[in-house]
Amino acid sequence: MCGIIGVVSRDEFPSRFLLERLKRLEYRGYDSYGYYDSTSLKRNLGEIIVAGEGKTRIGIAHTRWATHGGVTSENAHPHMGCDDEVVIAHNGIIENYKDLKVMLEKKGHEFSSETDSEVVAHYFEEKLKEKKDVKRAISDFLKEAHGTFAILMMIKGDDSIYAIKRDSPLVLGMCEDKLILASDIYAFSDITTKAIFFENDEYAVIKKGSYEFYAKDGKRIRKDVTSFTWQQEDSEKRAYKHFMLKEIEEEPLVVARMLLSLEHEQKEAFRRLVSLVKKSRKIIFAACGTSYHASLLGAFYLHTTGIEAQTLIASEFKHYANVDADTLVIAISQSGETMDVIDALKYAQEKKAKVVSLVNVPYSTIQRMSALSLSIMAGQEVAVASTKAFVNQAALLLRLAQEFGYKANLANLAEKIKGLIAQKDEIRRIAKDMSRSKDAYILGRGQTYPVAREIALKVKEITYIHAEGMMGGELKHGTIALIEKGTPVISLIGCKDEDMISNSKEVEARGAKMIIITNNPDYQGKKGKAKIKDVVFIDTDNDGKFGILACVAGQLLAYYAADALGREIDKPRNLAKSVTVK
Ligand code: AGP
Ligand code: GLU
Repeated sequence: MCGIIGVVSRDEFPSRFLLERLKRLEYRGYDSYGYYDSTSLKRNLGEIIVAGEGKTRIGIAHTRWATHGGVTSENAHPHMGCDDEVVIAHNGIIENYKDLKVMLEKKGHEFSSETDSEVVAHYFEEKLKEKKDVKRAISDFLKEAHGTFAILMMIKGDDSIYAIKRDSPLVLGMCEDKLILASDIYAFSDITTKAIFFENDEYAVIKKGSYEFYAKDGKRIRKDVTSFTWQQEDSEKRAYKHFMLKEIEEEPLVVARMLLSLEHEQKEAFRRLVSLVKKSRKIIFAACGTSYHASLLGAFYLHTTGIEAQTLIASEFKHYANVDADTLVIAISQSGETMDVIDALKYAQEKKAKVVSLVNVPYSTIQRMSALSLSIMAGQEVAVASTKAFVNQAALLLRLAQEFGYKANLANLAEKIKGLIAQKDEIRRIAKDMSRSKDAYILGRGQTYPVAREIALKVKEITYIHAEGMMGGELKHGTIALIEKGTPVISLIGCKDEDMISNSKEVEARGAKMIIITNNPDYQGKKGKAKIKDVVFIDTDNDGKFGILACVAGQLLAYYAADALGREIDKPRNLAKSVTVK
């Protein structure tokens, strides 16, 4: 959450370059933004507008996802101390900020925001007043501060940026004339392929043309420069109204690319994954949100083949998981930076479990902390609501289950997704209708139960309609009380799934407005045997693909409903793409 940028350049550059880089991190948080370019501090609410006249050689910038203090311009970063000597941008949470604040207030510091972050600026200002050298002050800070942080700091009269990291992501990109500090490589992946990743409790001093890394005790350390490659579909929206639709339409391309990679460049890694699954007594997935739903589908596929597989929402992992050296923990994460997942993995590692991961963003923390990591190769996902990453996560897990005997024809998955996208006008019509409701229910069973939950998440995230995705069988145990005349119920009916058909009938009998996503020919066409008006028919076998395809139909339904409501689809309220706080 939140994105930070720091630039030190050999030559002068327009200050708006800071905002141009920050704009690429806007998906990490978009409550407010700001920058400091050594002469002026600018802070604003709302969307990042890349503008400004000034020139500079150094500056820091921040786009915020508020954790402490409301969304106001006073709480926007960067923050300054009392004498404007120190300016900081911070991603994370300073957990003991109250104690530090009391201590600093006693020394006469006055605070102007409600954030936890502001304490950092006053802390260093105080240390510098005490005539401490900056490096010693950073070592003190690393001892005294609790919580998570990636901090960029500038000090008056000093031409360096000080960069400090614990748990929140931070990376240094190397361009010909500039050094760019950022929360992730996407900030500069269009202008360089060379980067250095910070590890916990390291800090760096960045000057024009030079950088020095230090361990927390102040000892100089040597860091390797990584040459990264980052598959990006063209990251411009171009003809698309929203990134989300563009990313859904990329699904055929990216899923085919990922499946192909398992036969070529990721062949060895895939073979090792299969062998680890074989050797382990049980598999536990750890993931959040959409990635959790993909893992639930994965657990279904693997479980069907007789493998002991379960999944846990990462934030509850340590409360519910029993892990030991015979357990394989598979983390699923698009960003590779989700703090809850990182915490679950640390716990699993303490218990000596083997940790592997499927991630999208290369060189991310989760990828780097795993014994083995496969890329889902979905390319940059810009829309906050995850779509193509889900498809690739689920397809990779289906491919894995195939190795253990799960029957599925993956060769035509991309074609089938294309066929479904071709139905978008009909889906838009159904979605427009659905957008008038205040609630929606999505029902699934077996492979479509995780999908029902994922569709509900998409509907909630981008339409703000209350939606519940649940097991078709569970409805009658309570939730059915909420069904009224006209309540939209999306039913995911796999071919020959008589139980799902019955569950759909149960809600239809109570006046629900049925939307059916199915591969059952009885529902095909308006005149199909089932006589339901709103049907998305998917022409596919009932193999594991149906779940993935049903989800694509749900993504489109959610998208068009949100569009009909005029929502901010790519940046829904209160959300951020990369959830780097607990
Ligand atoms: C997806 O639409 C969500 N915005 C969110 O649930 C996301 O899937 C979750 O935060 C997990 O992120 P990750 O895959 O990057 O770990
Ligand atoms: N805790 C800080 C704040 O609320 C930073 C949040 C973030 O990482 O976006 O301002």
